[in-house]
Amino acid sequence: MPIIIRQCAAAGMRLSSEGSDPAWNTACLRELIDHIVEDHHAHLRSELRALEKLTGATAPRLYEGDRVAELICVLKEDLELQMQKEEIVLFPAILELESASREGRRFGHSKFGSVRNLVKVAERSHSQTLQALEEIRRLTNNYCCQAKHTSGAGVLFRRLADLEDDLLWHIHLEIDILFGRVAVLEGETQ
Ligand SMILES: [Fe+2]
Repeated sequence: MPIIIRQCAAAGMRLSSEGSDPAWNTACLRELIDHIVEDHHAHLRSELRALEKLTGATAPRLYEGDRVAELICVLKEDLELQMQKEEIVLFPAILELESASREGRRFGHSKFGSVRNLVKVAERSHSQTLQALEEIRRLTNNYCCQAKHTSGAGVLFRRLADLEDDLLWHIHLEIDILFGRVAVLEGETQ
């Protein structure tokens, strides 16, 4: 079973049905990377900005609201940095590797070092993200709004649930599919 699907199941989280689409196992890596950057990264950046504002207004009235606000702040900082590293360092290195493989060239290291090491760093960061998502889910009681909460909390919980949904799929695409395919390519071009 793919790593992220297994970790999510263990944490009581579930990938949306989009996860069953097999097309990304065979599409070229540039297409997959473009999809990750243009759809998931763009959506995540705007959603994290919106959530930070929304949490600032709503979280003080929630049970454990301070911790939820803190986690969103940490997620925003970590994910913005992670996406920047992926776009500037990791994804260009993967595309270089894909070109070498297509042209039948040997590929030692990218200018940023071994792609495998870059992938390991990204995997560590994704695993911290999953822990933060798990804690937010627990603190919000699975995003369940109670009668005592304001309507602002309902909006916040719904958007947090949507963020988790999109982020799990995004991380699944990167770790289970993209990085898995990179490991195969790197083996072929050594
Ligand atoms: Fe990403």
